[in-house]
Amino acid sequence: MLQDSFNRKFNYLRLSVTEVCNFKCNYCLPDGYDCQTRARPLSLAQTRTLLAAFAMVGTQKVRLTGGEPTLRKELPDIVALCKATAGIESIAMTSNGYHLKKKLPTLIEAGLSALNLSADSLNPYTFSQITGSDSLHEVLECIDLALALGLKKVKLNAVLLKQYNGPQLQQFLNFIKDKPVTFRFIELMRTQDNTDYFSAQHLAGSGIRMDLEKSGWQLLPKRTDAGPALEFCHPDYLGQIGLIMPYSKDFCASCNRLRVSAEGKLHLCLFGEANEDLTPWLNYGDAKGLALHLTQQVLNKWQGHQLKQGNVGLTQHLAMLGG
Ligand code: GTP
Ligand code: 5AD
Ligand code: SF4
Repeated sequence: MLQDSFNRKFNYLRLSVTEVCNFKCNYCLPDGYDCQTRARPLSLAQTRTLLAAFAMVGTQKVRLTGGEPTLRKELPDIVALCKATAGIESIAMTSNGYHLKKKLPTLIEAGLSALNLSADSLNPYTFSQITGSDSLHEVLECIDLALALGLKKVKLNAVLLKQYNGPQLQQFLNFIKDKPVTFRFIELMRTQDNTDYFSAQHLAGSGIRMDLEKSGWQLLPKRTDAGPALEFCHPDYLGQIGLIMPYSKDFCASCNRLRVSAEGKLHLCLFGEANEDLTPWLNYGDAKGLALHLTQQVLNKWQGHQLKQGNVGLTQHLAMLGG
């Protein structure tokens, strides 16, 4: 399995399948960057080689991200490619849910096994302020559909924003009282494109953690495959809570993931080392050569990210890389 110089093992690939997005979430794209006209994504043949190479070096989980992955026409084919790759056991996707309802049955049939949906607020007005879309209703329908279709792992993502959803913790908690889903609260990360927004809206997850612990939420022992999130449960709630706090100490010690952008660049970290173009291997269908290259490349991964408090991350915005 891929292992870096800090003994971290990487069995999880986050693959962006398009940079295009139909939302303009203000934390991601505060200046309304045009995410309709982006570089051509990897072809299915290139994707097949990429998946084969990652599987050869121990990848067991693939998460498809974007932009918004459902905007990629060949998405069911990409899920099927993951499913057909020996060694890949879990196929997850992160989506804003907008186009998903009618596509979900096909994706599950093709092999999708886990789903994360963005739900930055459960208040329709706040939701539209953050995302620029009135589609909270569609997202909520999608959650129920995913559960009804038997998906065992459904997570919801809310980026913590001081003046938007910051005061809405109770509403999030009420929602998971009787629903077997995990709500993940993600600390806003500072990118090159959102520095002013970051200063106004960043809300530390540590405060939420204290509130949760005061009201009986208990930190769960870390699962070996949990990655950097902290997870909490409560005896009176069917759902769970996850906290992603990239500014906290040792956040990166449990990093288990590598990323490939839609156009085929390897990112060893969401915020960090320069990226590397993998298409020279993908164009020749050279999965073995790429697998060998990956084992060497991962040794260049740094211990932490470059997102220190006060620093701007090297990443321009996360739509480029699907978070
Ligand atoms: P699983 O562990 O596969 O469930 O995924 P996740 O919760 O990390 O997946 P998701 O795509 O829903 O991620 C939610 C958000 O958390 C991402 O969009 C990022 O903003 C953030 N995030 C996820 N992984 C990392 C990471 O490794 N580092 C940092 N800094 N942020 C991350
Ligand atoms: N900080 C934290 N999370 C972000 N996302 C995008 N931009 C940011 C940011 N600056 C995440 C959200 C969203 C996912 C697709 O990307 O979690 O749900
Ligand atoms: Fe891994 Fe980078 Fe995320 Fe840290 S910030 S957990 S090193 S991807």
